[in-house]
Amino acid sequence: MKVSIIGGGPAGLYFSILLKNARPKSEIAIYERNRAEDTFGFGVVFSDETLDIFSRYDPPSHAAILERFSYWDDVAIHFKGEIVRVGGNGFCGCSRQTLLALLQKRARELGVKLLFEREINDLGDFGDSDLIIGADGINSRVRALYEGHFKPVVDWRPNKFVWMGSTRPLDAFTFFFRETEHGVFIAHCYQYEPGRSTWVIETDPQTWERAGLDAADELSSARFLENVFAKELEGHSLIVNRSLWRNFPMIRNTRWVKDNVVLLGDAKATAHYSIGAGTKLAMEDAIALFEAFGRHGENVSAALFSFERDRREDVEKTQHAANVSLVWFEHLSRFWNYDPIKFSFGLMTRSKSITYDNLAIRAPEFVRDVTRNFAREQADKGLPILGADVPPMFQPYRLRGMTLVNRVVLSPMCMYSADEGIPTDWHLVHLGTRALGGAGLVFTEMTDISAEARITHGCAGLYSDDQEQAWKRVITFVHAHTPAKICMQLGHAGRKGATKLIWDGMDQPLENGDWPLVAPSALPYYPYSQVPREMTRNDMDRVKDDFVSAALRAERAGFDMIELHCGHGYLLASFISPLTNQRTDDYGGCLENRLRYPLEVFRAMREAWPPEKPMSVRISATDWKAGGLSDADAVVIARMFAEAGCDLIDVSTGQTVPDAEPLYGRMFQTPFSDKIRNEAAIATMAVGSITSADQINTILAAGRADLVAIGRGHLVDPALTLRAAAWYGLELDTAPQYELGYRAQLSLARRERQEMSDLRRRARPVGGKAARR
Ligand SMILES: Cc1cc2nc3c(=O)[nH]c(=O)nc-3n(C[C@H](O)[C@H](O)[C@H](O)COP(=O)(O)OP(=O)(O)OC[C@H]3O[C@@H](n4cnc5c(N)ncnc54)[C@H](O)[C@@H]3O)c2cc1C
Ligand SMILES: Cc1cc2nc3c(=O)[nH]c(=O)nc-3n(C[C@H](O)[C@H](O)[C@H](O)COP(=O)(O)O)c2cc1C
Repeated sequence: MKVSIIGGGPAGLYFSILLKNARPKSEIAIYERNRAEDTFGFGVVFSDETLDIFSRYDPPSHAAILERFSYWDDVAIHFKGEIVRVGGNGFCGCSRQTLLALLQKRARELGVKLLFEREINDLGDFGDSDLIIGADGINSRVRALYEGHFKPVVDWRPNKFVWMGSTRPLDAFTFFFRETEHGVFIAHCYQYEPGRSTWVIETDPQTWERAGLDAADELSSARFLENVFAKELEGHSLIVNRSLWRNFPMIRNTRWVKDNVVLLGDAKATAHYSIGAGTKLAMEDAIALFEAFGRHGENVSAALFSFERDRREDVEKTQHAANVSLVWFEHLSRFWNYDPIKFSFGLMTRSKSITYDNLAIRAPEFVRDVTRNFAREQADKGLPILGADVPPMFQPYRLRGMTLVNRVVLSPMCMYSADEGIPTDWHLVHLGTRALGGAGLVFTEMTDISAEARITHGCAGLYSDDQEQAWKRVITFVHAHTPAKICMQLGHAGRKGATKLIWDGMDQPLENGDWPLVAPSALPYYPYSQVPREMTRNDMDRVKDDFVSAALRAERAGFDMIELHCGHGYLLASFISPLTNQRTDDYGGCLENRLRYPLEVFRAMREAWPPEKPMSVRISATDWKAGGLSDADAVVIARMFAEAGCDLIDVSTGQTVPDAEPLYGRMFQTPFSDKIRNEAAIATMAVGSITSADQINTILAAGRADLVAIGRGHLVDPALTLRAAAWYGLELDTAPQYELGYRAQLSLARRERQEMSDLRRRARPVGGKAARR
């Protein structure tokens, strides 16, 4: 097989090594425009996990890498005069030049032809190649040649960064945060060989301009940054090597393969330097392509097809993690007032792969400090605490006069099991069991304020005496037998009403027995859904009165809290979203106008609801649709409800229009909660694909929410809070009927925890430090 590779970076070189080693007869040539010894930049980093992978694919290059790498375990975060060290990370660094040199040497030994100073501008000379690889980096010429086919999408990130070096020795992956009169500068630093460290320095575009760096050349930028980081550099200078200020391009390609041409490494997809994954991604691409040829022999088109199909998900996951990470650095101002421990925890856990529990194994002292710090912060705010070493999810929380025993919440979940709007035994058992299972707060499902407001025939209501009495029965049980509080979620379905039970077809219009719908504008949900009537002022007054009556009933029944549902495309949400509100009166147009009616309803309910009891609002913090609500709107919405007396924003997203494009994933809505909490300075509840106690603690300790709601997870595991309490070894008082069960769970959990921690320690990759011992 004849293979031509454009670009002699890590992607091209590593693929050539793997293929040539496995198939010595293949003819492989690499065309590189630079000289062998040229390189831009300074060092690269790999994690233990990545090294472990390399050890399996090409032991000789892995051994060469290990010999030349600097290894470190700690991340050190220098923030506002304090240094927080977090151990157990297992990373190593080496100079990019060394890495390229040892890969070049290995490739050459295997018989790969390395052709330097060969700039390739078109593929005309490669007509006889069976396979052509575009491994030509971020500004790929190969990608540009077939731009119409690969359809690259480049997202230029706003922050400015520059890649410099220094002789300053470092014994950890180090972040320096430095505030100047112009703004904050961040240095991401690591040593890659004795006496040599990489300094990637970044700042936001406003700070960059204020500091005059837009007009500075390489050397004057270095002198300026030496001043900024004078203390951190300890007398060492910054070294430049084509150290130009850049914006990071997040590159994605819609297609990776054209006939026998394939993109590899940065040419295909980039990952931000803050997760140190660019070189890893490039080399893992090489492995994936090699594997594809292993499966398909010399059938190039089958191999390339399978490479793209099988590799895409992993690449997109890494890019997603990198994106979340870079966004953290772009929004530093949100966390700038945090204390160093909380700030560092947020930094460590920014891209979701590092969590409270896995840090507790790698860096127990740090997690102990995080836990104590969280408790201290609560105590400083006058909140009760359960104990200094109790994980955040089990620290009590207070909203007005209501104290919750912990931070875990049963999210509102429609059960479609009411009878004429009257909650049934199903609701008693469903809510009662979750309260017994330990959640500090249980939400009722969206409960409708009138018959007209129902989503389905099976929805619960709070507009009749019978309904009020039935709810009272549920509340009495919860209060008599559990320490949980109970919140009534009140809503009006608007244009999403008169639909089938979820198991008969979610959001599908009823074929028989429907009722007339109202909405801010006469827009059906689906083209075939009932067209709602545009609400008049009279309708608005009537519906507002219904909300107030329901709030009064909720008080009489004994609810501890109420929530106004302003999300998911229901009536009030469809006032707020521009996609569903096309009114031309005072209730349509700009966001302030669109919020006018929901705020009116909220204020009227707030007045009717006792002042010592809290009220929350559920919002859709984005419509996941161009032209709809964005996360910036969500901050404004939250602020306006807070001004009207809202105590907590329950941060959900979407469900406004059927053709939205949500980006699902673990904890996918938490970034919206984070933004609202830290920009609008209001308490938030995070929800959405949060499935474990570990995630709950991570979210709370990083300051991304005050409460965490679990919906579907609670359906299969009503006692998830109790089980988590046992897992963390908490001596809780449970219902006496369940006491023995909890005791048994406690000792089981103690054993499991020990076994798991031993296993994890033993399973740590051997590629790095361990292998060198
Ligand atoms: C500031 C910064 C810091 C980074 N830090 C890290 C880090 O800490 N860890 C990490 O893993 N990664 C890091 N990276 C990313 C890493 O350098 C790249 O992701 C990685 O090198 C990608 O490998 P590649 O083989 O795809 O491309 P490259 O390494 O870019 O190689 C492409 C090669 O193609 C050659 N070429 C380009 N066009 C042509 C042409 N027309 N003809 C012939 N040859 C051509 C180039 O000269 C180059 O040698 C960082 C990147 C930047 C910008
Ligand atoms: C069957 C079902 C019913 C739901 N009912 C409601 C509801 O009545 N009110 C509401 O605000 N959200 C409702 N939701 C959304 C959940 O409260 C929650 O936000 C969502 O399921 C995401 O959280 P999870 O990933 O933990 O399940 C419902 C979700 C499901 C799956």
